[in-house]
Amino acid sequence: MTQDELKKQVAQEAIKYIKNVPVVGVGTGSTVNFFIEMLADHKADIEGAVSSSEATTQRLKNIGIPVLDLNSVGDIEVYIDGADEVDPRKKLIKGGGGALTREKIIAAASRKFVCIADETKCVDVLGKFPLPIEVIPMARSYVAREMVKMGGQPVWREDYYTDNGNEILDVHNLEILDPIAMEKTINNIVGVVTVGIFAMRDADVVLIGKGDRVEVME
Ligand code: A5P
Repeated sequence: MTQDELKKQVAQEAIKYIKNVPVVGVGTGSTVNFFIEMLADHKADIEGAVSSSEATTQRLKNIGIPVLDLNSVGDIEVYIDGADEVDPRKKLIKGGGGALTREKIIAAASRKFVCIADETKCVDVLGKFPLPIEVIPMARSYVAREMVKMGGQPVWREDYYTDNGNEILDVHNLEILDPIAMEKTINNIVGVVTVGIFAMRDADVVLIGKGDRVEVME
C-alpha cells in the first residue's frame, strides 16, 4: 500500500468513532483530509464540526458541513486528528501543518481524542520529526536560544504565519525521553504560544494504518 492508501484506510476506520456524535472536532493535515472527504457521506448525522484551522474550515464548508464556534458548543464528544509522530504511550508530536495551537485547544476540550496515523509515524522515542513550536514573532530569537540551551537546533519556518498570526520554529535534534516534562518546560518559556508535544493531553485512542489491518492503541 502507498502512504496515501494507508492514510485512507485509517481515515475510514475513524468514521466508526463518530456514530451518534452531534459535534465532531476535526484536525488538520493530509490524513484528516481523507477523513473530511468521507465525512461528506455522514453529514446528515451530525450537527456540525469544530475546526482546527482555516484550511480545514474551508474543506468542511466545501462539503456543506456547518463549522461551529468552540465557545458555543461546550465540550466536544470526539476529536479526530492526525500526528507527525506517535510513541508507544500515545504521546504525540503534532504541528507539521502549523495548526498545533487550535489542535491543542480542541484536544483539551474533547472527551475523546482519536488520533489517526499510518505506520510510518510510529517511533519509540519522540523527536526525530522536528518539533514545531508556535511563538509570538518578537520572541522568536529568544525562544530559539532557549531551545539551543536544551540541545535542539531550531529552524525558523521562514515566511510562514499561523492562523493566529504567529511564527513557527521547527526544532531538530531533540530526543524527547520524558514528553510530559519537556512539554511543561517548553510551555514555560516566555513567548511560546504552544509546543507541538501532545503528552499532558495525549490521544485516548490511536488508530494505526498498517495495510493488512488497522491497529488500535487504547
Ligand atoms: C497539523 O498541524 C498537524 O498537527 C497534523 O495533524 C500532522 O502534521 C499530521 O499531518 P499529516 O496527516 O499530513 O501527516
